[in-house]
Amino acid sequence: MTYGIICAMQEEFLKLSEVIENKEVVSLYGRDFIKGKINETSVVAVVSRIGKVAAGVTTMLLIDKFKIDAAIFCGIAGSLSDNVKIGDIVISDKCVQHDFYLSDSDIFRIPLLNVSYIPADEALTEKAKAAAVEFSQNLPDEAKEFNSNPKIHIGTVASGDQFISSTQKKEWIASKAENAKCCEMEGAAVAQVCYEANVPYTVIRVISDGADDDADINFEKFVNTASIYTKGIIKSLLK
Ligand code: ADE
Repeated sequence: MTYGIICAMQEEFLKLSEVIENKEVVSLYGRDFIKGKINETSVVAVVSRIGKVAAGVTTMLLIDKFKIDAAIFCGIAGSLSDNVKIGDIVISDKCVQHDFYLSDSDIFRIPLLNVSYIPADEALTEKAKAAAVEFSQNLPDEAKEFNSNPKIHIGTVASGDQFISSTQKKEWIASKAENAKCCEMEGAAVAQVCYEANVPYTVIRVISDGADDDADINFEKFVNTASIYTKGIIKSLLK
């Protein structure tokens, strides 16, 4: 069993890379794919870069060239719900592209595939949830700056090629996407590629900001903490 592990940004990936053993780097299309082991489990870890196209291409390479059996996307996201606080963890039960908009009566549907919400793998979601719970119950001191008691939320991850930093836009997405917990810029692309290739996926996101009018400021401050979360949750998931 080989897991593909994807982060969008180098800053999110840094601490995870410390726990990969027997590293071998394969460079393809400007990306470094790091093959190795975490807790004896085979992984191929990679920074996709930001946005849906970058994430989709990276996921396809992981599936086609590196023959991964499952994909895990980790990173930060903006909250779409008052219940979902900075430092909380969101795990996808499905993903949607909030910027896929054919018409008012047909929002989010991906033409030809004929789905709007792409379901995550149930078993992997459960594993991710258990790992997030374990991590949050043993939260390292260095990760407590923003939230010393993170909650875990399971729900919809809404993706689009836009950093959401507007209360009005946030409320629009939250009102249109079913059970929306967070917004980010890659998850639904990973989900779509995995869906088409019949590969299980999960998206694990740490909330860095409220996706509202002051989202930019919090985002910058949070990225190092997010890297601690990613390392801790992945180490626990791959036990
Ligand atoms: N990633 C982290 N915060 C985000 C936001 N507010 N919008 C989109 N992607 C994000």
